[in-house]
Amino acid sequence: MKIKAKAPKLVYVCQNCGQSCARWLGRCPGCEEWNTLVEEREPSAPIGAPTIARRREPGGPRAVPLTDASADEEGASGNAHARMTTGSRELDRVLGGGMVPDSFILLGGDPGVGKSTLLLQLARGAIAGPDGPKLLYCSGEESVEQIRGRARRLGVGASDRILLASETWLEGVFALVEEHQPQILVLDSLQTFASQALESSPGSVSQLREVAARLMTLAKGTGICVWIVGHVTKDGAIAGPKVVEHMVDTVLYFETEPGQSFRLLRAVKNRFGSTRELGVFQMEGEGLREVENPSSLFLTERAHAVPGTAITCSLEGSRPLLVELQALVAGSNLASPRRTSVGFEPARLSLLAAILERHLKLPLAKEDLFFNVAGGLRLADPACDLAAAVAIWSSAEDFAVPGDMVFLGELGLTGEVRRVSQPSVRAEEAKKLGFRTIVGPKGLEPPAGVRHLVINRIEELGALFRDPPPRRQAAAAPAN
Ligand code: TYD
Ligand code: MG
Repeated sequence: MKIKAKAPKLVYVCQNCGQSCARWLGRCPGCEEWNTLVEEREPSAPIGAPTIARRREPGGPRAVPLTDASADEEGASGNAHARMTTGSRELDRVLGGGMVPDSFILLGGDPGVGKSTLLLQLARGAIAGPDGPKLLYCSGEESVEQIRGRARRLGVGASDRILLASETWLEGVFALVEEHQPQILVLDSLQTFASQALESSPGSVSQLREVAARLMTLAKGTGICVWIVGHVTKDGAIAGPKVVEHMVDTVLYFETEPGQSFRLLRAVKNRFGSTRELGVFQMEGEGLREVENPSSLFLTERAHAVPGTAITCSLEGSRPLLVELQALVAGSNLASPRRTSVGFEPARLSLLAAILERHLKLPLAKEDLFFNVAGGLRLADPACDLAAAVAIWSSAEDFAVPGDMVFLGELGLTGEVRRVSQPSVRAEEAKKLGFRTIVGPKGLEPPAGVRHLVINRIEELGALFRDPPPRRQAAAAPAN
């Protein structure tokens, strides 16, 4: 059936959320942002019209039996099991075990976080081996010389299987793909590519959608693994990758905290794996280095334990991470005292404060409470509850809990300490980092050489330490 080309029509598209309106409005009805509507022409060709031949003959849609899906000889690489490695263990794990050949992956992050660096290093790792795949790296931001210079600095050796191109037209990229037949295609970045089929400028919502839709067709039709970088901008100056998230198979976000050299890679959507995995990298002079032992990043080294801190082990996907939680309880002169938290959900913090107030009789209602997860990590694992409560209690009582303890437990509103998921994985990690005591509810089996202090209710906290501290009196507890 032939699709009739429509005459271009004017629409107003929100550059923040992609909502389109028939007339201009000051405020987007979708996301309620101001001044984000921009005049764009509706495409004359249907979005996502394939420009290069698909391998399947046009003969109408076709379905195959489920049992036969992996043996589909026509789907260029339909076999989801034949994953390719990226050469980086962290990246492979976040992807769910490497790259799926015909997948479309979006790598989002703030400008300067290291997305281009990560993908150049991926180029190095992915093509390794005698029969490694061919990779085409198209940049709309840098010239070939600039990419080459950066690759040299990153130690990416010369290889015929890495092809570089500086291109901003999607049609140009498709021509290069046809000519070189790569197995992996990297586009840096989404906002710089545009299709000649549309009149709107690169980076506008309709271009973003068109580029994403056409690349999706390319990935699925030819079996190429397509990576696209998407800058995130807070001020909404350019449309963000959010508007194309639903089109891609996998969305990875690369994040960091101001002033920190570590970078966290998370999957927020993954059709081929878990979204709970976390990859940890460190930005150094020679590019990104995988962090083998990320727990050491989030622990503060100090000789003596100090009041207001407690250590826990959070499970990020399959990876246990030891983290230090810090609390500061300070007298407030406000009618409703402050509850400020960084890296921990504020509602959860208020809930823990209420539990402590009720069950430990801590007078927190008149105190400001500040809470922080050391190292800039964001915690969502309920197993961290007990440690968070201990940190608050420790600050309120001005009592330092011994520095060799790891707290594991979820807190219920009634004050009971509940079991956590995969306690042995967490306990092993604690042991590996030299912790000798695990505090948690019964049922936890610590590895050999690690002591288990049982706490089944939060009221038992004081009794755990041989001399429960007199309130507001510093007990000089040694670190070890
Ligand atoms: P880049 O990959 O260009 O970020 P993005 O593509 O996400 O915008 O990384 C830019 C930053 O990384 C830049 O501020 C410098 C720093 N960097 C290093 O510290 N070491 C390196 O080896 C490289 C290549 C970059
Ligand atoms: Mg870049």
